[in-house]
Amino acid sequence: MPDTPRFNARVDRMQPSATLAMKSRASALRREGHPVVALSAGEPDFDTPAAISNAGIQAIEEGFTNYTENPGMQSLRETISDKFERDNGLSYSPEQILCSNGAKQSIALAIHVLCDAGDEVLIPAPYWVSYPEMTRFAGATPRVVSTTPEQQYRLTPEQLDNAITEDTRLLILCSPSNPTGSVYTRAELEALAEVLRANDHVYVLSDEIYEHVVFDAEHIAVAGLPGLYDRTITINGFSKAFAMTGWRLGYMAGPEPIVSAAGKVQGQLTSAPSSISQRAGQAALTMDMQPVYDMVAAFNERRDYVLSRLNDLDGITCPTPEGAFYLFPDVSDLFEQTAPDGTPIESSNDLCMYLLEQHHVALVPGEAFGDPNGLRISYASSMEDLETALDRIATGVEALS
Ligand SMILES: Cc1ncc(COP(=O)(O)O)c(C=O)c1O
Repeated sequence: MPDTPRFNARVDRMQPSATLAMKSRASALRREGHPVVALSAGEPDFDTPAAISNAGIQAIEEGFTNYTENPGMQSLRETISDKFERDNGLSYSPEQILCSNGAKQSIALAIHVLCDAGDEVLIPAPYWVSYPEMTRFAGATPRVVSTTPEQQYRLTPEQLDNAITEDTRLLILCSPSNPTGSVYTRAELEALAEVLRANDHVYVLSDEIYEHVVFDAEHIAVAGLPGLYDRTITINGFSKAFAMTGWRLGYMAGPEPIVSAAGKVQGQLTSAPSSISQRAGQAALTMDMQPVYDMVAAFNERRDYVLSRLNDLDGITCPTPEGAFYLFPDVSDLFEQTAPDGTPIESSNDLCMYLLEQHHVALVPGEAFGDPNGLRISYASSMEDLETALDRIATGVEALS
């Protein structure tokens, strides 16, 4: 066996993705013949709408299979520019838009371009798993600010004000949120914007990838808040609302110098996203949105179902999520209990492992999202699977003593 090679120190500092780890354990159990229901994935269970797939097929049939311009096709960036005007009342020229291989790449590029050693990145928890790891990989320092279910997992202006230091370079906001489903109101965002206006050394990365997946709430674009346009990088993508996870297409929009620096890095690392996906993405932004509305209606129905089942269980409290397709219940009242076989449940990780190994439901422990009191349930699964999973969770939780 060769020795483990020496790695770049920034690679050693990164944690592997916990959501992917849970997925692989669930797959291993399935291979052993256990009927695992996985509510751990962060992707819609729907097919990509036909109008989008057909545009991709047409691109292949027309031989539209070459490299495109590095920042993405001009026509796609013009379409994205129109989308910002139409949906968010924001004016971005195509030069202020960079298309990448998924929003994940867009976020990584933005963090790398803006943040250096010594810079701090404010990340409200529960957070999307990759923000702190991308920050570490850039050599900067994540500063986590914890939020609670009582505050609907939303950062308050007081918390923001207390957390900002002279080293703060970037604040990451994600609304609607993965993993909590929480959606900031306009008044809440305006209060945060007021704090940011008083701290003009802080940039904002606003991850709006769940923009269209909202139920009883309105999505507000952070870049449109007074004073924030010139220092907000808006991230969006196609994976969630358009069920296009495998197409790998996302984008950033923001001040031109930042976007063009990110484009320079992209040009050396990956080049533009797939030409075929770009054609498909263009169709997504110009098609009749009915398939998206139908998916959102299905998510809404599932959220109501899962929430009502969770609320029937002792020891679990869950704020009502208003968007995305996740719930993030607080399960800390179940800690210090014991499974029927004597397994102690001392953490969210223990609870998730118990539910996976003994009841065959895959969830993701809150530790991965910076909140050890919670766990994430994705309801991007069929109603049938959700019913089975909730029956099993109920049996598992009720068996604890
Ligand atoms: C909050 C958030 N941002 C970004 C992404 C990345 O999406 P993409 O598939 O476009 O890379 C995800 C995917 O899970 C996400 O949940």
